[in-house]
Amino acid sequence: KNIVILISGRGSNMETVVRAAQAEQWPARIAAVISNRPDALGLAFADEHGIPTAVVANKEYPTREAFDAALRDVIDGYRPDLVVLAGFMRILTPAFVAHYEGRLLNIHPSLLPHFPGLHTHEQALASGMKEHGATVHFVTAELDHGPMVDQASVPVLPGDTAATLAARVLVQEHELYPRAIRWFIEDRLTIEHGKVHVDHST
Ligand code: GRF
Repeated sequence: KNIVILISGRGSNMETVVRAAQAEQWPARIAAVISNRPDALGLAFADEHGIPTAVVANKEYPTREAFDAALRDVIDGYRPDLVVLAGFMRILTPAFVAHYEGRLLNIHPSLLPHFPGLHTHEQALASGMKEHGATVHFVTAELDHGPMVDQASVPVLPGDTAATLAARVLVQEHELYPRAIRWFIEDRLTIEHGKVHVDHST
């Protein structure tokens, strides 16, 4: 199976997926890492690991529709079975999302349905939540919604700042995302009535 990973920045989640795929010998290959930003740090890691990289710079397109169409063409050139959003910071058009229905995953740094959108750690602190975390979900047209595959939670501790909380969540993301992607690759995930079922029978 072919996995295409989309990033916008540091790419630490992409890195853990690449490492897990290698270490656990997934029946899949990371076909490409694609960024909307030419300066995304994660591109260098992919390059060093022999993974093809591409940049589709959103700034060069006049509209969201034009950018998404170009991005889609580049992605589809790699014949993906799965497209993984890993810190990809662009809102995607409904047409793009529909094209990848059932094969587009995202990780979001909150316990959805709490705190969709940006600044999730600040929001968790401001609301007084005692628990926070991350969610892997299938992408649907509505931002940070869509059937949830798995979640991991962390405590919110006295004295936490957005940075300390983000770091605690990120540790969990790095376990959560490779595991969820592996389930997809192993055909364990089905969506029924908008909910994800994970088959653990084998
Ligand atoms: C992660 O916290 C991810 O959940 C969020 O943005 C961050 C990306 O980090 N959407 P990285 O680029 O994977 O290091």
